[in-house]
Amino acid sequence: MAICPLGRASVLLGLVACFAVFVAAQDTPRMHPLTNLPPGGEISTGYFFPDYPTRQFIAGEPVKVVLGIRNEASEDYNISMIMGSLNSAQEFRSYYWNFTQQVYFQVVEPSKELSVEYAFLPPRDLPPNDYQVALTVFYEAADGFKSTTFFNQTITVLEKGQLIDWKLLFLYVIFVSVVFAGAYFAWSSVKESTVYKNVVGKKARKVEAVRPDGDDEWVKGTPYDNFRKKKAAAASKGSPKKVQ
Ligand SMILES: *[C@@H]1O[C@H](CO)[C@@H](O)[C@H](O)[C@H]1NC(C)=O
Ligand SMILES: *[C@@H]1O[C@H](CO)[C@@H](O)[C@H](O)[C@H]1NC(C)=O
Ligand SMILES: *[C@@H]1O[C@H](CO)[C@@H](O)[C@H](O)[C@H]1NC(C)=O
Repeated sequence: MAICPLGRASVLLGLVACFAVFVAAQDTPRMHPLTNLPPGGEISTGYFFPDYPTRQFIAGEPVKVVLGIRNEASEDYNISMIMGSLNSAQEFRSYYWNFTQQVYFQVVEPSKELSVEYAFLPPRDLPPNDYQVALTVFYEAADGFKSTTFFNQTITVLEKGQLIDWKLLFLYVIFVSVVFAGAYFAWSSVKESTVYKNVVGKKARKVEAVRPDGDDEWVKGTPYDNFRKKKAAAASKGSPKKVQ
């Protein structure tokens, strides 16, 4: 008897689950085109960003991309549209923004090429950071829609007027600091080493010994002493101004 309420509960749960699945199924056809991409067709693509070759975009400024498409299939493709999204660079699944779609409806025949332009706008209030941008072209063949994601890479969004890449600058600062710290450490360990102490210590002792220059005691009898004496004699002879 105690099993009965539990049984009822699981039946109820089952019903709820069924309903959820049913609702999800009803929702499927209205899904966003980027959520469930059609299969890839036989095209090859190439792209470039004429205004931002370094892929450092500016928040609030439209970005133009030129897409070259070559039809490698044996049937016509009707290039329908391009769409894109801005996603987290760390986790692609969390998206921040869907770029507006642009429609073309241009047919490209087998072995022919076509160039189209697509512009997207990184939102003005987007915090400067790295993001992943995915751009997808949709095209239609006799057997239905196909899609090719022709760009799916990390890009950098900068603030307007932020011409310096602060992140890069920061890295430079860290790099320079590390080099200096390394140099200092190397210098300190050399200074403490016995080899250095022996070499430089001797020199220092020599310098000390030379310092008492007026002291005749230690040069007496050396060639330097004779030289000094001669020099002094020559100096007193050759200076008529000298008054005794
Ligand atoms: C944006 O695209 C994603 C798929 O990448 C989709 O799940 C989401 O519903 C779209 N958002 C809007 C507002 O269209
Ligand atoms: C391309 O597709 C669009 C939308 O399906 C259609 O209106 C247009 O007629 C097609 N173009 C050609 C040349 O088939
Ligand atoms: C883009 O690349 C990420 C991996 O970096 C991948 O998870 C994602 O499925 C790709 N998106 C598309 C639309 O190809």
